[in-house]
Amino acid sequence: MVTIRTDVAILGAGGAGLRAAIALAESDPGLRIALISKVYPMRSHTCAAEGGAAGVIKADDSLEQHFHDTVGGGDWLSDQDAVEYFIREAPGELVQLERWGCPWSRDPDGSVAVRPFGGMKIKRTWYAADKSGFHILHTLFQTSLKHPAIERFDEYYATDLLVDDGRCHGLTAIEMRSGQLREFRAQAVIIAAGGAGRMFRFTTNGAIKTGDGMALAYRAGVPLKDMEFVQYHPTGLPNTGILLTEGCRGEGGILVNRSGYRYLQDYGMGPETAPGKPVLKTMELGPRDRLSQAFWHEMKKGNTIPTPWGECVLLDMRHLGEKLIDERLPFVRELSTSYLGKDPVTEPIPVRPVVHYMMGGIDTDIGAATPLAGLFAAGECACVSINGANRLGSNSLTEILVFGRRAALSAVEYLRSGPRAGNERALTARTAEARERIRRLFEITGGRVSISGLRSEMMDTMEEHAGIYRTGGGLAQACARLSELRERHAGIGLNDRTNVYNTELLQALELKSMLDCAEAVAVSAQARTESRGAHQRLDFVERDDDKFLRHSLAHHRSGQPPRIEYRDVVVTKSQPGVRDYSGDKK
Ligand code: FUM
Repeated sequence: MVTIRTDVAILGAGGAGLRAAIALAESDPGLRIALISKVYPMRSHTCAAEGGAAGVIKADDSLEQHFHDTVGGGDWLSDQDAVEYFIREAPGELVQLERWGCPWSRDPDGSVAVRPFGGMKIKRTWYAADKSGFHILHTLFQTSLKHPAIERFDEYYATDLLVDDGRCHGLTAIEMRSGQLREFRAQAVIIAAGGAGRMFRFTTNGAIKTGDGMALAYRAGVPLKDMEFVQYHPTGLPNTGILLTEGCRGEGGILVNRSGYRYLQDYGMGPETAPGKPVLKTMELGPRDRLSQAFWHEMKKGNTIPTPWGECVLLDMRHLGEKLIDERLPFVRELSTSYLGKDPVTEPIPVRPVVHYMMGGIDTDIGAATPLAGLFAAGECACVSINGANRLGSNSLTEILVFGRRAALSAVEYLRSGPRAGNERALTARTAEARERIRRLFEITGGRVSISGLRSEMMDTMEEHAGIYRTGGGLAQACARLSELRERHAGIGLNDRTNVYNTELLQALELKSMLDCAEAVAVSAQARTESRGAHQRLDFVERDDDKFLRHSLAHHRSGQPPRIEYRDVVVTKSQPGVRDYSGDKK
């Protein structure tokens, strides 16, 4: 067994993981930092983010307004102390990226440009055309290369956390090129491994987003918080699920139904604010939950357009003109043309809502610490919680920076509070158990249970019962089916008996992660008998603050569905109210 000894092991080398690694190296160049990822860092999903990152920078904006947009947008499920920390730290992080080389788009006077984004009542989204995620990731990656303290372990798949005596002491991971299990002994671990959107069939998420980090923490006893809140992005390409950024609407694109009518005005959004008013027009710039729900109603009314890939509405950008589209939305033009054969300069683009983001994740406090000592989490895999029941677009790219750094600072503080070597014998036993679990997968010769068949059943279940609108009956069916799939997963066998890049083994493990996350989503959703943000129940249509101004916490139980507990939301200054996107000044 090869053992790598390090001070901090970071799982995930996307935006949050890289930001954490840089902050650790800057705080103490003598630290040993292992950056472990199942893909090469530039292949992390941060790369796919398009529209931009929110942070107050312009004179007409204020931290107060960013706070209220975020808390109201999240339907008051956000912890307000975490939001206050987030909005305060946001501008500094975005300026820091600029200094490291991020090419933010500029206004004609040379200052950083900002664009409107959904649910934000003032323009505050910094952007680098419509490849913001690519540029952010590139900037972080090149900066990380300056720090010799950061040692990379690309193409390692983490299987287990090493826990002893109530503390996390590292993790085990399969080195893909050899197929061998490696042990990472660390004083602290930061999980920054992204979301789990791949449990749904139709998603903007890349194939790597299988909830591995969430499942790792969950199985080690850390609850998954607010998992019932799954975000649909209103404008996905209907055939592939690829995102067409909210920036399209920020720049002035409109959504119309089959009659060419801007239907969002019928759903409490808009009409457009009169010229000269400081509040942005709403309509297409309403929040994502409301826009996706409006689509569902239009579909039920028969106002959508049938396509080979399902019902759609049209995103019309023709009036923006070729010059603006090429300058600010070149990637959108490339994606629509390449994947759908439609050029937004000359044609409206069919779009439909698509699973995009998990508001829920690994339970952390405001310092990115989980309840398991020595374990921290940041980014989409974590629920800190700033996003509440519905994240506002462009808050997440900033979140990976703010809380990636914060996780690192908390880990350093933890390290400084005294060394804690785990019990050698106990940790060796944990590693042996991890190896045994993998060996057992090889024991069953394939054929009995197919990985792709199980995955397909899981995706269908989630699409059918855990989508934009849910019912108690549907969720009960989902819970039963997911329990059954969990049991059947134990019978999975492998046809590929080799070690080198055994992708079948990885798919079996990823499927287990997704099933764990999916069950947490369905069971939490069934228990939340109210409608809030992205969680809409047709059988409980009202928000119920008396009962549910609380976070759900899904606790893992071996061989059983999770146990759900609740914790009060932190309210500092904004009492729950009515979410108003009617376009009036607030
Ligand atoms: O629409 C977008 O560009 C997505 C941004 C986000 O999810 O924050």
